Amino acid sequence: MKVLIVGSGGREHAIAVSAARSSRVDHIYCAPGNAGIAQIAECVPIGAMEFEKLTAFAKEAQVDLVIVGMDDPLVGGLVDALEAEGIRAFGPRKNAAVLEGSKVFSKDLMKKYHIPTAAYEVFTQADEALEYLHSGAKFPVVLKADGLALGKGVLICNTLEEAEEGVCAIMTERKFGSAGNRMVIEEFLTGREVSVLSFVDGKTIRIMSSAQDHKRAQDGDRGLNTGGMGTFSPSPFYTKEVDEYCRKYIYQATVDAMAAEGRPFKGVIFFGLMLTPDGPRVLEYNARFGDPEAQVVLPRMKNDLIDVCEACIDGTLDEMELQFEDSAAVCVVLASDGYPLKYEKGLPITGLENFDGREDYYCFHAGTRLAADGSVVTNGGRVLGITAKGADLQEARKKAYDATAWVSFANKYMRHDIGKAIDEA
Ligand code: AMP
Ligand code: GLY
Repeated sequence: MKVLIVGSGGREHAIAVSAARSSRVDHIYCAPGNAGIAQIAECVPIGAMEFEKLTAFAKEAQVDLVIVGMDDPLVGGLVDALEAEGIRAFGPRKNAAVLEGSKVFSKDLMKKYHIPTAAYEVFTQADEALEYLHSGAKFPVVLKADGLALGKGVLICNTLEEAEEGVCAIMTERKFGSAGNRMVIEEFLTGREVSVLSFVDGKTIRIMSSAQDHKRAQDGDRGLNTGGMGTFSPSPFYTKEVDEYCRKYIYQATVDAMAAEGRPFKGVIFFGLMLTPDGPRVLEYNARFGDPEAQVVLPRMKNDLIDVCEACIDGTLDEMELQFEDSAAVCVVLASDGYPLKYEKGLPITGLENFDGREDYYCFHAGTRLAADGSVVTNGGRVLGITAKGADLQEARKKAYDATAWVSFANKYMRHDIGKAIDEA
């Protein structure tokens, strides 16, 4: 088979590594890819939002399966565009990717189908949102721009003043563009966060091993929100009891709700859960693998990724069980100092060869590119995801942190407390 992966981050590198393990895959293309992906795939210089070029390339190269890793092309309808040309694609169609693309849609869906989530109100006008905040909203309160905003459209506001500023930023100044045409104001929940990824074929859902992300830039969960500074899997807080609750009230209920709405979901549903004192609540849905969640979940999956993707497309997931190694994995992100705001790019990375032939260690490239002389340089905020597997989380964490020393670049920055919560479990 020839497989085309769409995207350029650590998630797509992890998908490519899994695809390369499949006995069914002869050739992998990635658009646009990065310097790490280029070691195992043929990178083609087409952007993830260039639907016509992607479709033309997939036809020309006789690609058998396209795997769309990123949210923007999914929400924009890339799978529909590919299918219209007879190309098989893994990921939700546009009418189902709205589960991630619109917070208003997902909140209304959960309300209609009684899926546990934070209480909320929807607003289309700034003055109405402000009036609501003034008429006895409880603080902290959570503001969410409706649409995709590079993971930055969620504001947690401790005071009325902060919330007023937030409404202005989202709805008046349109800091997140058209994502702010509508907004959700919701109840602030407390508890531990867990990421649960799943494969879905429209009817059946199969749950992957749980993970936990670290969204803030600095140690101790301080600093700005980022795309994710590190992950571990499984989460020791995702207990059997939590799993049973989610299976009963959240997972299948979401898949059935989408089908009932005439929007059958095929692909990956990522459940962002908060384990509150009153039980698990859905914070958000994503319509794709998490990044860096994929970097700790996929290396532990025993199934052939291509078989699972095809079962999702063909609606035969009920004939398949997912299997995960009885291991643990930790991913520490090496970022450019200054991320998520301002940072330098184009700096040489050394030591990448230290990962060659090392079992249990992965150096996933997130923001890298090949320079004209063939060397690898930094090309983004998140540069590398250093993942290690171990017999348990403690061992995996030690190995991952040891391996962060194997690579260098001038503005290398990382958190030092990825997986610290493991010790509290
Ligand atoms: P989201 O993009 O909806 O996942 O939100 C990003 C982050 O904001 C989440 O990972 C949480 O840390 C936080 N968050 C979102 N909604 C809530 C909520 N209702 N209560 C507390 N924290 C929240
Ligand atoms: N790591 C969170 C996300 O992929 O959205």
